[in-house]
Amino acid sequence: MFPSFSYEMPTRVEFGRGVVRNVGHEVSALGSRVLILSDEGVRKAGLLDIVTGHLVEASVLYELFLDIEPNPKDHNVHRAAEAAGAFEADCLLAVGGGSPIDCAKGVAIVAAAGGRIRDYEGRFVPAVTPLPVIAIPTTAGTASELTFGAVITDTAEHFKFTVKSPALAPKVALADPEMTATMPRNLTAFTGMDALTHAIEAYTCRVATPFSDAPALVAMDLIGRFLRRAWQDGRDMEAREGMLLGSLLAGMAFSHSDVAAVHCLAEALGAMYDAPHGACNAIALPAVMAYSMEACVDRYADVARCLGLSFATTEEGARAAVREVQQMARDLELPSIAVFGVREEDFEIIAAKAEANLSNPDNPRVLTRADYVALLRILTGTV
Ligand SMILES: [Fe+2]
Repeated sequence: MFPSFSYEMPTRVEFGRGVVRNVGHEVSALGSRVLILSDEGVRKAGLLDIVTGHLVEASVLYELFLDIEPNPKDHNVHRAAEAAGAFEADCLLAVGGGSPIDCAKGVAIVAAAGGRIRDYEGRFVPAVTPLPVIAIPTTAGTASELTFGAVITDTAEHFKFTVKSPALAPKVALADPEMTATMPRNLTAFTGMDALTHAIEAYTCRVATPFSDAPALVAMDLIGRFLRRAWQDGRDMEAREGMLLGSLLAGMAFSHSDVAAVHCLAEALGAMYDAPHGACNAIALPAVMAYSMEACVDRYADVARCLGLSFATTEEGARAAVREVQQMARDLELPSIAVFGVREEDFEIIAAKAEANLSNPDNPRVLTRADYVALLRILTGTV
């Protein structure tokens, strides 16, 4: 029996080299005063100049807000919402990786409806229409440019929470592979492993549907073929295109399915140590897959097939998938968990945060707090 589901994809995606040149036209269609949300890294890479140049050509009035941290914080959202109010912005333009785009979604609701961003935790139906968001991704990983949700850090509790509503999905995503070409190697690796994790978790979690399976399978194939190439040579535009497509498809997949225990653990680690999201995923992915394998051997074998591996039995395929993601993290020179300074006395609290994550029940094998402590012992070698 096939599962029941509903499918909605509110974001219009414009994909291709050079589509960023349409930003003036796209903004003008939605508003007349745009607040640009971005960060210093994007500015230093010269990407903001490209965007603002097109806005000036189209005579669009804009203001910049660049004070957005990695793992975007609740206070980033609140200050940006104040800036949007002071500028009387009627449209938001997010330029960057997941942090500015997630922050923009938070600003969209707080600037329109007031309150604190934590007031909107979980899935919600807004009483007031949020400000429209246009997103220009500069990484190939989060797919926040087309998903419904944003992950924000509650700085008082060191806890990452999700706000989720189709009303928060960007109206337009200008997905231009050329805007991802300046990413340094480590960012290519972090964000690429995040995209791979989205595809694998969307495909193997308990709420997968045929409409999430289809993009997840193509995403795994693309990421398997192009992530190492994009890391090896950032100017390999075919690889950059393949990775941006892979991340978009993985985003379509998990926004109509879910992520699972890899993200639960990665978000708990990211909130505790302010560690890069993709690196946390890459660290957790093989260990969580090995731990969950007994609950979805067939689907893990499909993952192996998409990653181009050959095997004789489904059990062999599932094990090969785990080995391959581990090898990929090694090839991309991802750090081990040791670099984040994870302390044994924090294990219980990290495990409690992971268990409290709304995606935890969707892992193929439902993990308890004790399971997460066991995983942390495996990852840190404190078994
Ligand atoms: Fe992610």
